Amino acid sequence: MDRRTFTQLFTLAAGSLGLMQAAGQAQEQDADDQRNAKTGNNLNARGPSSKAVNVEDLRQLAKAALPKASFDYIATGSADEITLRENVAAFQRLRVFPPLMKGVSDADLSTTALGQKIQLPVLLAPVAVQRMYHPQGGLAAARAAAGAGTIYGVSSSVGNSVEEIAAAGNGPKWFQLYVPKDRAVARTLVQRVERAGYKAIIVTVDLGEWKDADQRNRFSLPKEMLVKHLRDVGYDQITDRMSYEAVSEFNANAWDLSLSWEFFDWLRGITKLPILIKGVLRPEDARKAVSMGLDGIVVSNHGGRRLDGMPATIDVLPSIVEAVGGKAEIYMDGGVRRGTDVLKALAFGARAVLIGRPYAWALAADGEAGVARVIKLFREELLNAMVATGCRKLSEIERSLIA
Ligand code: FNR
Ligand code: LAC
Repeated sequence: MDRRTFTQLFTLAAGSLGLMQAAGQAQEQDADDQRNAKTGNNLNARGPSSKAVNVEDLRQLAKAALPKASFDYIATGSADEITLRENVAAFQRLRVFPPLMKGVSDADLSTTALGQKIQLPVLLAPVAVQRMYHPQGGLAAARAAAGAGTIYGVSSSVGNSVEEIAAAGNGPKWFQLYVPKDRAVARTLVQRVERAGYKAIIVTVDLGEWKDADQRNRFSLPKEMLVKHLRDVGYDQITDRMSYEAVSEFNANAWDLSLSWEFFDWLRGITKLPILIKGVLRPEDARKAVSMGLDGIVVSNHGGRRLDGMPATIDVLPSIVEAVGGKAEIYMDGGVRRGTDVLKALAFGARAVLIGRPYAWALAADGEAGVARVIKLFREELLNAMVATGCRKLSEIERSLIA
């Protein structure tokens, strides 16, 4: 079952019309990008995202820009999408109680994340196959994150090699690891990540989608993307001459889908980088992560893309914060759509949040400018929320603000 869910991304029927349209758009866009690079016009103030005033606007733009199968891949969740909806709804249920007359008219949004200075507590979550949303893919996301002074969490499956991403922008980057079954490949990949200057490794332990929309759309990757992906992580034996079926079959067997806690001992033994575990929802798992010496915990249900029925992340965050008792940094993702959501998560004890769909939509809508735009919107909304609640800095965002 695990195998089916994870490989769905890569192995469902080939050649869907949607993706062929995407490839055509990609070529036109490449030409645009080359022109823009020459004119220094990458962040064209009149780009389509410039009029977006919130994440919903960017979602609409992405919907108009993408073939249905690609848009649905980003937007939808598992099964009945209960968890997908809950992630957002749980934030919306929380109320903010602003204390008055605190004399605050500006706020400092900067903080650190595992020792790394960042300009706002909003990070880009690892998101797969970004070249399918925009030809510049992860390179555009890396540049936008660097420009905004935040961390880009680079997916193992992003569609660009770790070195390409590192060369694209000099901002801080964390690498999200899906674990190759071949431990020699896994080891080399981790060493490459370290050499390329990434600052931490996020191990995602709740992988595997179960999304009706992807099955209905017969969602799949074009062969070139799948070949590039496997080569990027270090499976050099993959060749262009192999049939799509052969590449898919290879991919289906390439990943270790049944990790246990010992994995972290192995990983600790081969890298000095800080390690985060992504996908934690239970306090005892958080305590176990701390007892194994992990540096960070990402409270996550994979954006409602994995097992439907899991709780909203903002609802479980307080129990994780309590269990960890300050012994590791705690991050969260899932359903963050507004600056007030960031305020709520920080009030509950998160160090920072990660956004997934909001920047995937922004990337599809407008490349680097889109991602820069969505980060700017989060910055402005969070600043407004802090001023309205009398918080001059992030450490002043207290639990008592939220009911
Ligand atoms: C993801 N997510 C994800 N997580 C991960 O660890 N590795 C990955 O490759 C991906 N790929 C991926 C693709 C797409 C299109 C989405 C939307 C999400 C999950 C992601 O890191 C994050 O947990 C959620 O996206 C957070 O929820 P929101 O912000 O999308 O509500
Ligand atoms: C996803 C996988 C790749 O959520 O993590 O699409």
